[in-house]
Amino acid sequence: MHHEINLDKLDQLKKGDPENMLEALSGLPTQCQDAMQRARAVNISFAADFKNILVTGLGGSAIGGDFLRVYGYRKCTLPILVNRDYNLPSFVNEQTLVLAVSYSGNTEETLSAYEEAKLKKAPIVALTSGGQLAERAKKDGIPLILIPSGLQPRAATGYLFLPLLVVLEKLSLLSDIAAEIEETIAGLADLSKAISAQVPTENNPAKQLALRFYNKIPVIWGVAGTTETVAMRWKGQINENSKALAYFNVLPELNHNEIVGTEVPEKFLRELEVVFLRTEDDHPRVQKRFDITKEIIGERVGGISEVWGDGKNPLARMFALTYLGDCTSAYLALLYGIDPSPVKLITLLKNKLAELPEA
Ligand code: PA5
Repeated sequence: MHHEINLDKLDQLKKGDPENMLEALSGLPTQCQDAMQRARAVNISFAADFKNILVTGLGGSAIGGDFLRVYGYRKCTLPILVNRDYNLPSFVNEQTLVLAVSYSGNTEETLSAYEEAKLKKAPIVALTSGGQLAERAKKDGIPLILIPSGLQPRAATGYLFLPLLVVLEKLSLLSDIAAEIEETIAGLADLSKAISAQVPTENNPAKQLALRFYNKIPVIWGVAGTTETVAMRWKGQINENSKALAYFNVLPELNHNEIVGTEVPEKFLRELEVVFLRTEDDHPRVQKRFDITKEIIGERVGGISEVWGDGKNPLARMFALTYLGDCTSAYLALLYGIDPSPVKLITLLKNKLAELPEA
């Protein structure tokens, strides 16, 4: 099969990736260390008696909120919600911790939600690399975690997720996170070596997966409470890096609907490459469900692969799989001869909206 780029030729990878997405990805472990230091250095305390936590953001800046939400299932006694909208849900009040996240600091939905949180007198923490959000937080005297600019938001996941954990720890809403985070970063450093551009396809699981996805529609299936956000992330990364369609869903829910949709149209079903994201943290019955699901749909779709997240704790396993998906999507872009970095259609849409009068 013809590929635009040979993944084992470093000069071709470099030429196809002029804005250095692969390099940004390989820097993730270092980014995580820096993110921890920056967040720990910020003074955050509120007198509030918190009842719930809400992360507000969009796209690459919201996904950190979803990682936090899933992490919180195991570790946090307060509900954590993610808001991807101009408005906030009506429960938000002075007992809601609002984490306003925007990598650029200029996302209009997030700025609108920030203003609403202020009106509702919610304690707010802002996480951004600058823009309007940084300016407003400084002016309003709101705790601000500043991260470096110059990355694509989706390549800044260390910066957009780990500070949220630190904020919750500072406010005693999470405890004992340090060891888990250290193990996670160490795991990412090992994985970074195993799936980097220098490692040839025969030993590189990310390059192998990219080849499986090439000219197919990736369908990513994760698990509620463990890899649900990871599955969404894989889909988003394939969309934004590879500029390709992809879909995701989660078990056990998909066993109650999507699985039935694998009968027709046959010609499209053959084009699906299904990937199961698995970890030892999945419920034992869900482990069985994966096996049975594979038996049932195995002949109906183009292909099925299983990838396991390895690591010393659930956070490490979640991030190992995330990182694998990030690198896979960048290699897939390169196979298509597509530059993984720019997201022209998001920029176009934002520019068109900016030309309109404000509502
Ligand atoms: O990946 C992207 O570029 C987008 O999903 C952005 O993250 C999204 O448009 C929101 O922008 P920002 O992260 O700057 O708030």
